[in-house]
Amino acid sequence: MSLDMTVTDAAELQPLRDLWAFEPGCVYLNQGGFGAVPREVMAQQQRWRDQMDGNPTRFFRDELQPGLEEARLVAARFLGSDPDGLGFVQNTTTGTSIVLDSFQFSPGDEVLTTDHIYGAVRLAVQARARRAGLAINQAHVPLAASADEIISLVLDAVTGRTRLAVIDHISSFTARRFPVERLVPALQERGVAVFVDGAHAPGAIPVDLDSFKPDFWVGNFHKWAGAPRGSAGLYVARRWRGQVEAFPVSWQAPLGFPRSCSHVGTTDCSAWLSTPAGLDFYGRQGWERTRRTNAALAAYGQQVVAEAVDAVLRDMPVEPDLPMRLVPLAGVPAEQEAADKLRDRLAREYGVETAINAWDGRTLLRLSAQLYNSMEDYEKLAAVLPGALIDEG
Ligand SMILES: Cc1ncc(COP(=O)(O)O)c(C=O)c1O
Repeated sequence: MSLDMTVTDAAELQPLRDLWAFEPGCVYLNQGGFGAVPREVMAQQQRWRDQMDGNPTRFFRDELQPGLEEARLVAARFLGSDPDGLGFVQNTTTGTSIVLDSFQFSPGDEVLTTDHIYGAVRLAVQARARRAGLAINQAHVPLAASADEIISLVLDAVTGRTRLAVIDHISSFTARRFPVERLVPALQERGVAVFVDGAHAPGAIPVDLDSFKPDFWVGNFHKWAGAPRGSAGLYVARRWRGQVEAFPVSWQAPLGFPRSCSHVGTTDCSAWLSTPAGLDFYGRQGWERTRRTNAALAAYGQQVVAEAVDAVLRDMPVEPDLPMRLVPLAGVPAEQEAADKLRDRLAREYGVETAINAWDGRTLLRLSAQLYNSMEDYEKLAAVLPGALIDEG
């Protein structure tokens, strides 16, 4: 996309910042990090909390489970899952551990991942591997690999012992969309079950789980789908449902998946209950419009920031539909400590929140875009980044 065209697209957009609760002066370019909850969704969450404390006993006895069931069905429909395929979990981290712990491995089995895997998911795989005596096979997928290259690199890494593949839907540090619609059936044909880490997918891209049928999938509603933090969906394909044990084990465990997920002792479930309000918020903005707007803004941000620091975008991945883009920072040592230092300096001294990570010998600045952002947000970063880089050096 040319810069001019991106500017034109983005200029038509109406930033809606007041619908969120940002502090004055905060330039927020990290929606992909922890989400950002629209005010009306926070208000809906507060209504659920008020209802809960109007009569806590009645709420937990009579109102919580019907409310959760209604919210769960809305969430399942949104992701194209059959009604019994999706359970609520608090976040992708929790869903990942449920899947890994429920999967029955034998010693010597292999788990296949790629080097785009999220750090905490890698730790969960390593922990499971230690307990069960598994080997981990991590395929290297170059940053700008094409979809075909990703598929062949992953399939080439399958061995006779590979039981489970853990594949990103949209990766975190590298903001890549993996071709899961083709990769999942190809792995399954080779006898490998596939767990897709869809942390970033709900809302960011259309998701239709029943069409690409991962064995397991988990994705956050609190990143790109407007939900309060602590809301994610865990999808389990029919053949595995009897085997999945939600934890902590609580009163609904005998009901099995997915209802076993919807009771975790006494806790505040208002994030799950308010998830339909997040979906409704973006639904009214228009999912298609939201995605187009965000992709155009992220592309504009990438161009304007790259120009400011003479970054070469030639070998950056092209993900035209994603609300996240990368700018490589050649002058910053490719170490996480240096990346964190620059990120913190931008936040604390200039009020600009970004994500910066070291990955495979490079430092990558990740820009997110959401409807509250304006072109000026990226221009502000472009204005301050050269100075912050000099200070770093
Ligand atoms: C790809 C990926 N997987 C997993 C996670 C973990 O998500 P959560 O912190 O909501 O559990 C993240 C969070 O950013 C992520 O980007």
